[in-house]
Amino acid sequence: MDSLALTVTHSPLFWVLHGPNLNLLGQREPGLYGLATLEDINASLQTLAQAKGVRLVCHQSNHEGALIDLVQQALDQSVAGIVINPAAFTHTSVALRDAFAAVKIPFVEVHLSNVHRREPFRHQSYFSDLAQAVICGLGPQGYDAGLSFLIGQLDGRPHGSQKT
Ligand code: DQA
Repeated sequence: MDSLALTVTHSPLFWVLHGPNLNLLGQREPGLYGLATLEDINASLQTLAQAKGVRLVCHQSNHEGALIDLVQQALDQSVAGIVINPAAFTHTSVALRDAFAAVKIPFVEVHLSNVHRREPFRHQSYFSDLAQAVICGLGPQGYDAGLSFLIGQLDGRPHGSQKT
């Protein structure tokens, strides 16, 4: 009997990566970061993803190596784009930057607060020059804006087709 080659087309997959201490949103320095929890932010993003017909997976880690592993896995999983808030790793992590440079997956860097109105050490980012866009100071809306932007970028490039 002939074997069947089956091609399944999935809707494009996007990821959101939340860096260290963002699991504490809602209780962490609410004057800076607001009252929305990570669950609130992820729920809003899932609603947006559903409305736009894409798949979305959200991850959070407090560990640099775990985030690097995820970025490398994103390549295997044909992730079309990543919204990342690297949190404090924004200002410190050459290794996480190098992971993005290696996989070449389009990404948007998001910060809840306007980092440029804060301490000078927060003005430096290891990600901004690699990012498609940088959004800061919009609070949780920044994540939705970043995801909408990446979804909009899909037109005109191949995506979402995987052989099984
Ligand atoms: C942050 C800003 C970073 O400087 C800080 O370390 C964070 C959160 C933001 O979303 O505003 O943890 O990325």
